Amino acid sequence: MNASWWQTGTIYQIYPRSFLDTSGNGVGDLRGVINRLEYLEWLGVRAVWLSPIFTSPMADFGYDVADYCDVDPIFGDLGDIDALIAAAHARNIRVLLDWVPNHTSDQHPWFVESRSSLDAARRDWYIWRDQPNNWTAAFSDVPAWTFDEHTNQYYLHNFLPQQPDLNWSNPEVVGAMHNVLRFWLDRGIDGFRADVVHMIGKDPALPDDPPERQGTSGVGWREHPSTHGLLRGIRSVVDSYDDRVLLGEINLDDTARIATYHGQADELHLAFNFLPLKLDWRPEGWRQLIAEVHSVYNAVDAWPTWVLENHDQQRLVTRLGSLERARAAAVLLMSLRGTVVLYAGQEFGLADAKVPAERTVDPGGRDGCRAPIPWEPSPPFGWPTPDAWLPWPPDPQQHNPTTQRDDSTSTLWLYRALLQQRAESSALRSGSTTARVVNDSVLIVDREADGDHCRALINFTGGTVEVPFDDTWTIIIDSCAGETGGDYSGQLEADQAILLRR
Ligand code: NOJ
Repeated sequence: MNASWWQTGTIYQIYPRSFLDTSGNGVGDLRGVINRLEYLEWLGVRAVWLSPIFTSPMADFGYDVADYCDVDPIFGDLGDIDALIAAAHARNIRVLLDWVPNHTSDQHPWFVESRSSLDAARRDWYIWRDQPNNWTAAFSDVPAWTFDEHTNQYYLHNFLPQQPDLNWSNPEVVGAMHNVLRFWLDRGIDGFRADVVHMIGKDPALPDDPPERQGTSGVGWREHPSTHGLLRGIRSVVDSYDDRVLLGEINLDDTARIATYHGQADELHLAFNFLPLKLDWRPEGWRQLIAEVHSVYNAVDAWPTWVLENHDQQRLVTRLGSLERARAAAVLLMSLRGTVVLYAGQEFGLADAKVPAERTVDPGGRDGCRAPIPWEPSPPFGWPTPDAWLPWPPDPQQHNPTTQRDDSTSTLWLYRALLQQRAESSALRSGSTTARVVNDSVLIVDREADGDHCRALINFTGGTVEVPFDDTWTIIIDSCAGETGGDYSGQLEADQAILLRR
């Protein structure tokens, strides 16, 4: 396989507000990211994706952009992002930005102009109607339309009222957004994570949702065929630069539908699949998903992605209910065929913070997984101030990179060993995949390429299980112990996952 960096390497998501503050205001910034590049190189990630850093009133913490070509002062300035790109590239780490194409902030000059009058030059850059349809917005039960008294029309917003949807059927919008991409590609950015990009094309008739859908936001299912043509245009901009990547958020609960957004290798390079974030911790569900991803993706000749955490979902330890299970899930995740995307903190077993009502800030209730990263075991946890914008996650004394870097049995070392194995093994990087379940309790994932054979065993139960094999296998990674070298005995302990090689 002649693979690209975005296929063989692991991508690491940084939520800049929470990564590391250097200015003392309790909010993370770009200098904080530069500060920790040595750590990321040591960990072995190949690229970082920064959640939005653009100028924003922060109604949705950066997913409401007021200027796509500048950095919000809370994170730094254009000089800082240039410095970050250069410093990351010096360590062979690529940098992806989070580009938000479906909507802007209501403070964006495009929208300010659009709403100024019915015949404003940019009126048609957004979606205005005399009568709303019955769509519901995300994060609340409010309608997806807000009435604008000044011009007596409603504008569409699939998210907050402060996030008006752009009208991608207007070629001027397409051109302006392509220019945004070029602005960053010219600056040396290696690619983009495109926010809810399956939603940019809209049915021009904007039909009502059917009764069974009414009252739910369309984010998980609304799509329109015109998005494919728009993606081909976006891809051709990205492909006019060397070796860049387009990673799209396709928030649909159907692998086959997600895979259509790769087009004929002329739409997305990579598409998120969020099904693993919603799976129960049961081996049969995982077996089915692995088999489905494998068959769908082989049929379209595209490359899948795997993700277990992000800034919108409960962290793995919280969701699965224990660190042991989260460590077993790490072995599973890093054994799969496709690009893995990790979320900062996942690699050292961070759990969600408990956020009391008076400190809740996110309209979507996602504060827990966005808590600041503790870098050191005691306050202020490596930050200039202990008063960060959100409460600290539980047990920062143990769950921080400094403490765990000194302990080769830690979750951090487990992830590092898994990343190293992936870099060294062609079976793990690109091999075929077969998955089966034994005893209703253990998932076995076999990966094979060029005579290299790896096998992951994941015990989904809290009891000891016998899984003997005829041939001899060496344990290379053990979720309970970290890196190890012994022969496999034929038995798995409670919540244990191991990676074997033959
Ligand atoms: C998906 C992002 O991941 C989420 O954080 C954001 O709120 C919505 N898109 C709207 O931009």
